[in-house]
Amino acid sequence: MLDIAFVRPSLPKSGALVLLAHEGEKPSGLWQQADEATGGAIARALEVADFKAAKGKSVSILAPGAGLSRVIVVGLGKPAELTDRILNEAGGAAVAALSREAGAAVATGTLTPAQAADVALGAVLKAYRFDRYRTKEKADDKPKLTKLSILTGDAAKARAAWDRNKAVAEGVFLTRDLVSEPPNVLNPAEMAERCKKLTSLGLKVDVFGPKEMQKLGFGALLGVAQGSVNEPRMVVMQWNGAGNGKKTREKPVAFIGKGVTFDTGGISIKPAGGMEDMKWDMAGAGTVVGLMAALAGRKAKVDAVGLVGLVENMPSGSAQRPGDVVKSYSGQTIEVINTDAEGRLVLADVIWYAQEKYDPKIMIDLATLTGAIIIGLGHEHAGLFSNDDGLSQKLTAAGIASGEKVWRMPLDDAYDKQIRSDIADMKNIGGRPAGSITAAQFIQRFVNKKPWAHLDIAGMAWSSKDGPCTPKGATAFGVRLLDRLVAEHYEG
Ligand code: BES
Ligand code: MN
Ligand code: ZN
Repeated sequence: MLDIAFVRPSLPKSGALVLLAHEGEKPSGLWQQADEATGGAIARALEVADFKAAKGKSVSILAPGAGLSRVIVVGLGKPAELTDRILNEAGGAAVAALSREAGAAVATGTLTPAQAADVALGAVLKAYRFDRYRTKEKADDKPKLTKLSILTGDAAKARAAWDRNKAVAEGVFLTRDLVSEPPNVLNPAEMAERCKKLTSLGLKVDVFGPKEMQKLGFGALLGVAQGSVNEPRMVVMQWNGAGNGKKTREKPVAFIGKGVTFDTGGISIKPAGGMEDMKWDMAGAGTVVGLMAALAGRKAKVDAVGLVGLVENMPSGSAQRPGDVVKSYSGQTIEVINTDAEGRLVLADVIWYAQEKYDPKIMIDLATLTGAIIIGLGHEHAGLFSNDDGLSQKLTAAGIASGEKVWRMPLDDAYDKQIRSDIADMKNIGGRPAGSITAAQFIQRFVNKKPWAHLDIAGMAWSSKDGPCTPKGATAFGVRLLDRLVAEHYEG
């Protein structure tokens, strides 16, 4: 992780300087000092660039004088419209402009210490790289930036706010690492091992293997897993932070993730083109794991349980067939028409288990569930399906605030009819129309009168281009959204 230090403001004598500027702000403090030290180079450059400090705009000035290698001025927009998301994105913009520098100082001007820590969060998130498998990259091609000094009046306060943000960043990085790992490395057993490591954060972690799941009667999940030589796992991660370590009567909030470590489609096999993308079909589970790490890392005052169903969907002589009927843990039977609609089969058993065992006050599942949600919402919103208007509103608001946006889609008995089976309680696909909705209807059949939301993140988990605070690749969509939801509504 990019090294962050909070220090008292003073004009650096060398290296790079980042200035954060509000719309309409007149240069003062360090900004003014830097401008004077460079003989007015900053003011001239901003005028030539017609820079008005609008949010998302920045100017990079090379060798402005006074020993500085570069000065980057980042716009924050109007002070009255400032949000923590804008601050995160300003930190991200600074890092994008600084990649050739080894270190830099960020002058935060009139921002509060907590706002300075939000700038630091964006910077750290943007500087993430997954380079575990690069052995030949030249030093010149690697980003040089290793350290950022954030200049702020009250460094101690900023550090306290940073502790919290840093825990969230660590959760995001854990998710991104898991989602980026190749599928030959990250199979269900390996992912469970990585979950086990979270005990060091104070989480209680339990791992279930095929025998335990057989005993419980997880016929839907096990049907998906049976085609692979890599055994399935279910991992349950508990964080009890509501009572400061003491047991409480509180019902927990529950998060459930689809963890298909590779989805070939099974016997209903997918076409070759782009199939490598299906390594990130465990992103829902990856997000749940990173979220639990974030909650534990920042000692959230909440009781939360994260459950992930981990399987590999492979075609083989032992794979399940289209036409098979399986019995889910809930007792309901499912006719498997298409073995590529596997995520819902995995979720069905894990969701039922979450309810039976933990009686949660709310349940949120995350899954890269359908290609159809990408047709509907593209890469801008995750699909939100819910039986609860209040929960939907909270998620929508937290999405806007975090920049991880969700859009509510309908549920309706009329759609549910599409998954009726002639020989079993339901079938696992509902045909082409409304493919994301019939998938959600399927999941809803395993929700037993609980406030529940399903996030279809198929369009959001992976990005083919750089974002303001995310390099291209695994986004960890949902970690910051749900961390915020918990902080705003479920923490005591
Ligand atoms: N993992 C896929 C969904 C997916 C597709 C995620 C593209 C990310 C990008 C899921 O298991 C799947 O295969 N869904 C099928 C369902 C169909 C068989 C009803 C789909 O969307 O085509
Ligand atoms: Mn599939
Ligand atoms: Zn899948």
